Amino acid sequence: MQKQIEITYHEFAGLHELPAEDAELMQRAIDATATAYSPYSHFQVGAALRLADGTIETGSNQENVAYPSGLCAERTVLFGASARHPGVPFDTLAIVGRNQEGVLVAASPCGACRQVMSEYETHLQHPLRVLVYSEEGKILQFEGVKSLLPFHFVF
Ligand code: THU
Repeated sequence: MQKQIEITYHEFAGLHELPAEDAELMQRAIDATATAYSPYSHFQVGAALRLADGTIETGSNQENVAYPSGLCAERTVLFGASARHPGVPFDTLAIVGRNQEGVLVAASPCGACRQVMSEYETHLQHPLRVLVYSEEGKILQFEGVKSLLPFHFVF
């Protein structure tokens, strides 16, 4: 039997189209690219997470000469927020990339980060909205991680 799934998301033409608090969150992610430690890829990723109590945490990719020891911006901020604010639901995560030329570029979260987002959504019993900076400055908005990672791993 063939089955189909549908993914719904919103596309905004730019930061100016976002509600003020989401635009502010994406701006915090943009600012956080400056904190990346990425001497190997020369690619910066910034992430900003708003918690349900209004707290904003930011993170960036952190690399290491033993390459797999590095961590993406998304997991840096998610793990940090969970450690600092245990039990507080995560509300919205904004993600953006910056290339070697300093230009803001798309940074759609990798599979491992989606798996981590998905588990916090379940653990904290709150949908995690995701704002992804995309081509030509567009912003993609996903209402929850299930749209980004259907069939996530659980046991
Ligand atoms: N990176 C992230 O921070 N987030 C992602 O979702 C994918 C990739 C980082 C890892 C590495 O430091 C650099 O981007 C290039 O892969």
